[in-house]
Amino acid sequence: MQVMKHLFKSRGIDISGYSESFMMRAIKKRVGRTCAPDNPSYLKMLIRSEEETNELLGALSINVTEFFRDKGAFESFEKEAIRPLLESKVQTGALLRIWSAGCATGQETYTIAMCLAEEMRRLEPGKRPLASVLGTDISELALAKAESGIYPREEVKGIPEKLLNLYFVRKGHAYEAASSLTKYVRFARENLLEKPGSKFFDAIVCRNVLIYFSRKMHEVVVQNLYESLRKDGYLMLGRTETLMGAPRSAYEVVDLENRILRKL
Ligand SMILES: C[S@@+](CC[C@H](N)C(=O)[O-])C[C@H]1O[C@@H](n2cnc3c(N)ncnc32)[C@H](O)[C@@H]1O
Repeated sequence: MQVMKHLFKSRGIDISGYSESFMMRAIKKRVGRTCAPDNPSYLKMLIRSEEETNELLGALSINVTEFFRDKGAFESFEKEAIRPLLESKVQTGALLRIWSAGCATGQETYTIAMCLAEEMRRLEPGKRPLASVLGTDISELALAKAESGIYPREEVKGIPEKLLNLYFVRKGHAYEAASSLTKYVRFARENLLEKPGSKFFDAIVCRNVLIYFSRKMHEVVVQNLYESLRKDGYLMLGRTETLMGAPRSAYEVVDLENRILRKL
């Protein structure tokens, strides 16, 4: 199908595993919204427009995310990765850099920032190293919401109350990330299929992104993530994801269930 080919060619996203009726419903919704007179006209518009490609990916639920998605995974990431990294930065005085790759609308990036802020609180104020969490995604639309830092009440359900009170400010029916959180966070557009703009990250969180790629594209992303990570840096994937194409000697397992690895 042409739409599938376009998503594959332009984004490396393989939706051949999606059910046809689900795909057709999403396409029909976009045809309606864009007022395209028929499917061939919609296809032409889709191929020309990056924005419409993002809208269609949104309709296919490819941007789905939540705060503390798999809570245990972030508990483990905080303890097994952030804590030792911060301890080593206290010694060296260097900046701690974490990358949330494929962050969608930012919930994952702010979740990491909350884990980081909590670990910072364990340190004496004068000893806290500088730290940053970079959230990147290919979708400008998703990034615009991430940058706003504003989420409706239904979307902050996954945040433990204590953290919600500490790191968000209530604004009517919504919650806005407070400066105690946004001071760590930055967003940028990046295509994971291209050579990374930034390297030497101490930790990379890339969850529920690899599942959308074809085998070949998956391997390209795995290589790019490897090149972006420092030696001894941590990589966390989604709970059902595996690294295809990486040699066994590239990483050691830190937490198998939560897919936390360490670069050798
Ligand atoms: C299901 S969301 C995952 C969000 C978050 N990581 C999580 O686990 O909740 C997948 C994200 O990957 C992004 N994505 C897909 N292809 C990409 C690419 N080539 N480069 C960067 N991001 C991509 C999508 O735009 C989407 O926001």
